[in-house]
Amino acid sequence: MALDEIDLARATDVLVREELERAAGFATPLLRHRFLSRRMALRQILGGELGIEPAHVTLGLSARGKPIVLDRPGVFFNVSHSGALGLLALSAHSEIGVDVETVREVPRWTEIVREFFDETERELLLRTDRSVGTFLSYWTRKEAVAKATGLGLNLPLSSFAVSNFSGDEASIVMIRGVKGTPRKWHVRDLMSGPDHMAALASSHACAEIIWKEFPVHGE
Ligand SMILES: CC(C)(COP(=O)(O)OP(=O)(O)OC[C@H]1O[C@@H](n2cnc3c(N)ncnc32)[C@H](O)[C@@H]1OP(=O)(O)O)[C@@H](O)C(=O)NCCC(=O)NCCS
Repeated sequence: MALDEIDLARATDVLVREELERAAGFATPLLRHRFLSRRMALRQILGGELGIEPAHVTLGLSARGKPIVLDRPGVFFNVSHSGALGLLALSAHSEIGVDVETVREVPRWTEIVREFFDETERELLLRTDRSVGTFLSYWTRKEAVAKATGLGLNLPLSSFAVSNFSGDEASIVMIRGVKGTPRKWHVRDLMSGPDHMAALASSHACAEIIWKEFPVHGE
């Protein structure tokens, strides 16, 4: 079955009780539908890569709340979605985080920069390059790092800078002053517009990492 042919009617065969309960808790049918679509795609991709049935992928959460495969402690993955696009990254060697954002207007993005970004980034974004595109590229890099650590947006986004990237190679990002989290991350851009920005953060430089796009269905 191709990813764009995901049959949501099969959700009850593939998803576990907790996932169906979480789906039932969404406030609108659209949100419920989008969650089911994401989970079916996630299980299908992970199952395909791990060589097991999608329904048998044992999804759970780390102590920090990051989704993991419970019975494959050496497998690392992370997912992001924005609008109709989903992105999943998978590695057998390296802790990873991904983020994708649709290129769009972001109301009050300068306030986010002022309040949450590092000083160098503030200087660049508020004085030199006041473009929402640059903001989104910094945001995806920052969220990819935050998700790689497992802390998500509980990681202070001002504790590291992502403004000094060069070329297509991964750049090194150092987190300052956060205890219990590896400091050094390798970050690269996966998409740089025109429709989406996306970034990937990994704990190891040369780790073999695959990433796949998948559609997130609406109504
Ligand atoms: C994880 C987080 C960064 C997601 O941000 P987002 O822009 O809404 O969503 P994205 O599409 O990029 O990523 C969502 C996916 O991230 C993954 N994810 C969830 N928690 C995660 C964590 N702690 N670390 C890494 N990845 C996580 C999930 O696979 C999720 O997909 P799902 O919703 O289908 O389960 C954000 O929700 C967060 O920081 N959560 C942890 C802190 C928290 O719970 N705060 C609540 C308010 S105090």
